[in-house]
Amino acid sequence: MSLKVIILAAGQGTRMCSSLPKVLHTISEKPMLSWVIGAARSLDPTGIYIIYGHQGDRLREAYSFETDLTWVYQAEQLGTGHAVLQALPHIDDNDHVLILSGDVPMISQHSLKRLHEVAIEADLSLLLADCYDPSGLGRILRDTDSSDAIVGIVEEKDATPEQKLISEIYSGTMLIKAKLLKTLLPTLSNQNAQAEYYLTEVIALAAQQSCTITSYCVPFELEVQGVNTKLQQAIVERFHQRNQADRFMLQGLTLLDPQRFDSRGTLSFGQDCVVDVNVIFKGNVKLGAHCHIGPNCILENVTLGDNVEIKANSVIEDAIIDAHCTVGPFARIRPGTHLNEHAKIGNFVEVKKSTIGAHSKVSHLSYIGDATLGNDVNIGAGTITCNYDGVNKFQTVIENGAFIGSNTSLIAPIKIGEHAVVGAGTTLVKDAPAGALTINKREQRTIENWQRKK
Ligand code: UD1
Ligand code: CA
Repeated sequence: MSLKVIILAAGQGTRMCSSLPKVLHTISEKPMLSWVIGAARSLDPTGIYIIYGHQGDRLREAYSFETDLTWVYQAEQLGTGHAVLQALPHIDDNDHVLILSGDVPMISQHSLKRLHEVAIEADLSLLLADCYDPSGLGRILRDTDSSDAIVGIVEEKDATPEQKLISEIYSGTMLIKAKLLKTLLPTLSNQNAQAEYYLTEVIALAAQQSCTITSYCVPFELEVQGVNTKLQQAIVERFHQRNQADRFMLQGLTLLDPQRFDSRGTLSFGQDCVVDVNVIFKGNVKLGAHCHIGPNCILENVTLGDNVEIKANSVIEDAIIDAHCTVGPFARIRPGTHLNEHAKIGNFVEVKKSTIGAHSKVSHLSYIGDATLGNDVNIGAGTITCNYDGVNKFQTVIENGAFIGSNTSLIAPIKIGEHAVVGAGTTLVKDAPAGALTINKREQRTIENWQRKK
């Protein structure tokens, strides 16, 4: 019996009040549909069929490089049962079919494996949750006799006041034998409050035919929280972030407040790292051992060596920062930057596409772009590499041990030799030779008896 997965993603998502198709809304900066596809792939199915409809082009375009997905068009959204019906031509009689909702993104590999286990002996298996607030969801109906068998699902809009008190709900995920699905789906009716063909009607039909129905209830209801509104999206985002934070803390990361921490990608870290509040990690972030990240920092695709300190309010993107560097507070490190060991980038400094040598310092109020700095270079406050003439970008090279005085403009392309000193306030238009002091002509005059205007 081979496993095929059908993912329902054709709905418009009216309740999101957005022009973006619902399943492209994100959790942790990744579209909900991608989370669901990831969960599906973890089971190694022989096919993944995505039912799409609303804004289909936009959806298919977003996944154009993923070749293991088969797209199945549902022209009109007549309900979840009608959606699954569209995929039936792709399903063989002896397949096992897993049905997932594109708007239930946090479904875990663990729960899907449990569902798969309870499905072995069954015709139909449901993933359930016990909800504190089940409103809006399909309620599980059980036999009132001692068997407690599942006999149906009633949707909120069709439920009686008594049925609405049931806290056991259908998560939107089921595993069903293809043969049964194929016999039942064409018999669904749309005689219900929403005039839709409900997939959930399959359960009562199967129960009437004395099919074996089993279930697995997820340990945390938020795992199967559906996202129909921006409010539910935020709830799921926090659930995901808190889960990750808990995992990182158990692996030894110190988070000064796990409620105020976001990792929207992959994170690895060495021992004894400390992350202060409101830090956001994006993409692929690697921290060495003994790193300290101050409050309000954003790090995206960054690799830190050991003993790096990033001070408050720094923004760092696509950079490599070697051991013992310090950055910030209020520093901006832009893509293509590499800081070698013990380099220091201070406050209100922007560095772009530059290499800063070991033990070099850019401590205050500077712009360093398209530059290569050697070791032990000191850049005075207010130094600017003038790297752009409005059309092209030019390189600045500053060799080992050079000292650049404050408020200097370095008009690139330009080279400053080893141990050169450039006087404060110089506008450097030609290379500065090694070992010498270079300054612009400057005069200071004092006018005696001069009066300020009143
Ligand atoms: C559905 C279930 C409900 C369950 C809940 C869990 C039905 C009838 N109800 O309700 O029992 O508790 O999920 O979250 O199944 N879709 C299509 N084509 C359609 C209609 C929907 O592809 O014609 C897709 C939607 O894009 C969505 C999914 O199916 O991804 C579920 O549809 P939605 O309208 O969100 O159902 P719920 O009201 O949440
Ligand atoms: Ca839903």
